[in-house]
Amino acid sequence: MDEKKLEDIVGRIRSVPAMPATAARLLPLLSDPAADTRRIEDVLRYDPGLTADLLKIANSAYFGLPTRVGSVRQAVMLLGWKRLLQLVMTLSLSGLMKQPLPGYDLPRGALWRHSVAVSVAADRLIARLKIPDGDAVFTAALLHDVGKIVLAHFVREELGRIEALVAKGLSFDVAETVALGVNHAGIGGKLLEAWSLPPRLVEAVRLHHDPEGCVRDCPVSDVVHVANAIGGRLDLPGRGGAAPEPSPEVLDRLGLEEKDLEEMTLSTRRELERLSEVL
Ligand SMILES: [Fe+2]
Ligand SMILES: [Fe+2]
Repeated sequence: MDEKKLEDIVGRIRSVPAMPATAARLLPLLSDPAADTRRIEDVLRYDPGLTADLLKIANSAYFGLPTRVGSVRQAVMLLGWKRLLQLVMTLSLSGLMKQPLPGYDLPRGALWRHSVAVSVAADRLIARLKIPDGDAVFTAALLHDVGKIVLAHFVREELGRIEALVAKGLSFDVAETVALGVNHAGIGGKLLEAWSLPPRLVEAVRLHHDPEGCVRDCPVSDVVHVANAIGGRLDLPGRGGAAPEPSPEVLDRLGLEEKDLEEMTLSTRRELERLSEVL
């Protein structure tokens, strides 16, 4: 690994567009226990695009309401704001995350589908484990592989070396680190930092392949790690995407067994089918 290359990679973070404005405005609302209908209306009032997205989602077959929802207030009252805002945020990140990433052998839309799958799996885990900081987990899960957007170009350049390392038994993320000095998880963490996202989100993204490196707020990174493994069972997330089995240490910490994972894999698959109506 050479220092110059690492500098190049980190410099490339600046070329990734800022977090979409919509998502950036929803994030603090999502994690604010005091957010109420009026505050949500205040944010949405000046953003017709966001309002339209929210109404489109509220009226989709996903929620299956018998009547047509015509206002933000009505949508929030009928459906609850958390799930709605999560979906609007998910939708607002789709432009950035749908791009093809040839370095990872990910065609257009594949990274996006995997990210949504992992966020749904994370939601299942949050509910089951009664994790208090659920919204942070959801967002971290949605963005966990965002570093691939930055790293794809460099992975492609060093593909021969990376694949040789994988053939020797290294996991793809470790091979990335050996060949490039950093892996997509580390770069994803730096990107989230550049977007000024909260440190616990940054940590969870940075540690999603290395959950044992966690020193604080471990439930957030633990859940993203396990959700990534569940997401990996559902889809073929491209080169190097085959999620390794979840860390036994983490499963132990969370009190999860293989049969729990199987159950959540099934319910995640069902939810993704329903979500395809919206996203
Ligand atoms: Fe990853
Ligand atoms: Fe992943």
